Amino acid sequence: MAFSDSDHEETKGTTKMMAGLIIATAILVVVGVLVITYYIRRSHRNIEARENGSSDERQIEDVELPSFELDLISNATSNFSSNNKLGEGGFGPVYKGTLPDGKEIAVKRLSRSSGQGIAEFRNEVALIAKLQHRNLVKLLGCCIQGEEKMLIYEYMPNKSLDFFIFDHTRRNLLDWPRRFHIICGIARGLVYLHQDSRLRIIHRDLKASNVLLDSEMNPKISDFGMARTFGGEQFEGNTNRVVGTYGYMAPEYAIDGQFSIKSDVFSFGILLLEIISGKKNKGFYHLNNSLNLIGHAWRLWKEGNLSELIDSFVQDSCTLSEVLRCIHISLLCVQQHPKDRPNMSSVVLMLVSETAMVNPKEPGFLVDKKSLEASSSSKPESSSTNELSLSVLEPR
Ligand SMILES: *[C@@H]1O[C@H](CO)[C@@H](O)[C@H](O)[C@H]1NC(C)=O
Ligand SMILES: *[C@@H]1O[C@H](CO)[C@@H](O)[C@H](O)[C@H]1NC(C)=O
Ligand SMILES: *[C@@H]1O[C@H](CO)[C@@H](O)[C@H](O)[C@H]1NC(C)=O
Ligand SMILES: *[C@@H]1O[C@H](CO)[C@@H](O)[C@H](O)[C@H]1NC(C)=O
Ligand SMILES: *[C@@H]1O[C@H](CO)[C@@H](O)[C@H](O)[C@H]1NC(C)=O
Ligand SMILES: *[C@@H]1O[C@H](CO)[C@@H](O)[C@H](O)[C@H]1NC(C)=O
Ligand SMILES: *[C@@H]1O[C@H](CO)[C@@H](O)[C@H](O)[C@H]1NC(C)=O
Repeated sequence: MAFSDSDHEETKGTTKMMAGLIIATAILVVVGVLVITYYIRRSHRNIEARENGSSDERQIEDVELPSFELDLISNATSNFSSNNKLGEGGFGPVYKGTLPDGKEIAVKRLSRSSGQGIAEFRNEVALIAKLQHRNLVKLLGCCIQGEEKMLIYEYMPNKSLDFFIFDHTRRNLLDWPRRFHIICGIARGLVYLHQDSRLRIIHRDLKASNVLLDSEMNPKISDFGMARTFGGEQFEGNTNRVVGTYGYMAPEYAIDGQFSIKSDVFSFGILLLEIISGKKNKGFYHLNNSLNLIGHAWRLWKEGNLSELIDSFVQDSCTLSEVLRCIHISLLCVQQHPKDRPNMSSVVLMLVSETAMVNPKEPGFLVDKKSLEASSSSKPESSSTNELSLSVLEPR
């Protein structure tokens, strides 16, 4: 009895040991597999990210981004008083501030909607701060405290382009040479964002109010990188969240959420038309028709009467051939198909030299959405008399 018992016990002990060994091995194997899968996945993701051209830059560890204390910023802006408010951007209000040393700053107080983590945000802002070009507004730093996220920019004393070109008296201050200087500056800033910087930024909200002017009336593009930070990661692709301003958005972006550097080119074309004509694309009104500014420009192009488009305030100061060239370029930029539009480096080349230019094809968004809806609901037969194509706006 005793013998068999102890024998039994011994076998039991061995079985236990065996079981333990098997379990330990199993655990080791499982852990090993998990670790290996993790590393494979990670390197895979790294490769993918590198192919997408994005995230190797994200791994920069030593980001030395100046950080400002909230106390300092609220003091500098008199507690974000409405007297100090400069305007309301797409991502939150902007305040003017004066630091204790007398330096003037602009503070963008971001609305709290973004679900981004602090570290990620800081990293992103540090990268954007490294984008430096004389036609981009300089980002000085950020301020993060609790729920508050703020971006600190250099202050631009002469406000923004829309403040001048759309104002009856101030537009006099911008003669043609100045306007041309501004046009070239914006184009160079965009070339830098699209091609020359390490990040390849698509602005996605280029418009007159996002072009700021320094003390010498040099243009500086603002709000670049905001779409990257808040509107998703892709360089080219499809987004559900359309960031932008109606009146400047390319048709493929406004309708399908499809964006690329060519949607920025479209916005640049609109901006160019606005600078030349002194009229807003959105809300453009012509006695005779329901065309928007693009449609109006296109009609004048076809009639060979482009000089009618030029702002009467610049007519005296301009070189006609230079302005006509700019109108031609703007029509190339607003062509309906993204692949027809030139890239920004070609645009700069066309602006500064006498290179031959192809004739533009039909632009996108010839007719205001509003007037289109009105005409199709009230008198559908009138659309047949309209010679201009509406194909862009037809549902697919
Ligand atoms: C890279 O792009 C592909 C498709 O173009 C996408 O499926 C993938 O998620 C992207 N990877 C990263 C890390 O963004
Ligand atoms: C804020 O301003 C007040 C008065 O101008 C000053 O006494 C105080 O030290 C300032 N605080 C900071 C943090 O700069
Ligand atoms: C700023 O606002 C805080 C609370 O909102 C208040 O305690 C503080 O006294 C204010 N400071 C100034 C300079 O107005
Ligand atoms: C631009 O700003 C500078 C400095 O504030 C000022 O001297 C100049 O008159 C401004 N120019 C225009 C056209 O307002
Ligand atoms: C109105 O449009 C017609 C063509 O539809 C054109 O012949 C005419 O010149 C236009 N009138 C004005 C004032 O633009
Ligand atoms: C061009 O526009 C001007 C001003 O509206 C007009 O007087 C002229 O007849 C137009 N010329 C042509 C060829 O349409
Ligand atoms: C821009 O377009 C020109 C003409 O199509 C082309 O030669 C050039 O390679 C393009 N540049 C870039 C950076 O895509």
